[in-house]
This record gives sequence, C-alpha cells and structure tokens, in this order.
Amino acid sequence: MKTQYYIATSLDGFIATEDDSLEWLFSLGSLDDSSYPEFISEVGSLAMGSATYEWILRNVEQVSAETGSPWPYTQPAWVFSSRKLPVIDGATIQFVTGDVRNIHSEMQEAAGDKNIWIVGGGDLAGQFYDAGLLDNLIVQIGSATLGKGKPLFPRRVLSPILQLVSVRQMGTGMAELRYEVHNRPPVETV
Ligand SMILES: NC(=O)c1ccc[n+]([C@@H]2O[C@H](COP(=O)([O-])OP(=O)(O)OC[C@H]3O[C@@H](n4cnc5c(N)ncnc54)[C@H](OP(=O)(O)O)[C@@H]3O)[C@@H](O)[C@H]2O)c1
Repeated sequence: MKTQYYIATSLDGFIATEDDSLEWLFSLGSLDDSSYPEFISEVGSLAMGSATYEWILRNVEQVSAETGSPWPYTQPAWVFSSRKLPVIDGATIQFVTGDVRNIHSEMQEAAGDKNIWIVGGGDLAGQFYDAGLLDNLIVQIGSATLGKGKPLFPRRVLSPILQLVSVRQMGTGMAELRYEVHNRPPVETV
C-alpha cells in the first residue's frame, strides 16, 4: 500500500492557472491513453483540498458528461477544508481539517491493500510529505507552460533527493515521471 501524489503539471510546474482553470490541460492528451485507468484501479481511498473539490463542484456537468456521474470516484474520499462545502450527489466524502497524520490512518484503513491517492493540490501533497507519509510522486508533465498558477509541489526537496524510477513518453503532449520519496521523519499520532 502506497500513498501517491498522481498529478498533471505544466512544464513550468503549475497544476492549474491562478483562477483554477484546467482548460490548458485537456488538449494535451486523453486520460484513456494515459496511465490513469491502471492507476485508478489500484486506488483504495483519496484525498483532496477544497480548491480541487470546488473545481469538480463548478464543473459537475462536464464531469457527468465525461464519467457518467457528477462525482467521478467510487473510492471513499476525504476533502480538506476549514469551510462547510456542499456535498456532490453520489459522493462518499468526509470533510476534514487539520493535521494529515490522523486522517492518513483512517484513509489507510479504508484503502485496505490498495493505494492512497493525494489528488491535489500541491501543498496538501506537501503536508503528507512533511509528515513522512508520501511514498511516490507520479507526474505527467504537459508540453505547455503557464507562466504562473497553482504550484505542483511547494516544498524544497534536496536531501535525500527524489529517486526517479521511470520515464514514459505519452505522444507529443505529455511525459510521465515516477519518483520514490525517501524522506522518513518519524510519524507521531497527534
Ligand atoms: N493538474 C492536475 O492534474 C490537477 C489535479 C488536481 C487538482 N488540480 C487543480 O489544482 C488546483 C489546486 O488548488 P490549490 O493549490 O489551491 O490546492 P487544494 O489543495 O485543492 O486547496 C487548498 C485549500 O484546501 C484547504 N486545505 C488544505 N489543507 C488543509 C488542511 N490540512 N486542513 C484544512 N483545510 C485544508 C484550504 O482551504 P479552506 O480551508 O479555505 O477550504 C486550502 O486553501 C485546483 O484548481 C484543482 O482543480 C489539478
């Protein structure tokens, strides 16, 4: 069981524009031609921050048209927010706030022998990294730049560096890099 941050980014390290648009991403390649179908089949639970959740809320019609449901996931999900947000029809969601370590234990239990997916954003993935709970970074790098936007992973990772384990080209629009994370500060339950 791994905790994985699986995400698409622009070449210059942004996962969304400053106003949370993902339009730039959709022309770069199709999910069906990517590693996503295989990846999601191994996901047992997932976590996201409120900006990511609110993107789905704003785009329920598009999500429904593409996935057949306003909530595209069958796995139990945890949404991190300090605010009260509406629940999307058909979603199994817990809204949570604060330290990621206790939530991770619950997610682990729900995931069984499958993986935990940190959907985004970058700082939430960073909180799992800070706690020594992130095992993999799986990044699809799009052949496009944004100049500014929401950061991929706003952390300084220097020692130990990430361990690059695979590189895969997906057409001309994307390359996927997989990394193992080897930081392991002791995880204390709070
Ligand atoms: N390119 C891709 O593949 C991809 C994938 C996923 C997401 N995205 C996009 O990337 C953008 C990510 O936005 P973002 O960087 O702002 O990140 P985000 O993690 O989606 O949202 C950040 C917000 O989550 C809440 N939050 C985070 N950690 C928390 C904690 N420990 N406790 C309580 N609340 C917490 C806070 O808001 P509040 O407390 O105010 O609610 C925080 O401002 C979105 O536009 C999303 O659609 C792109």
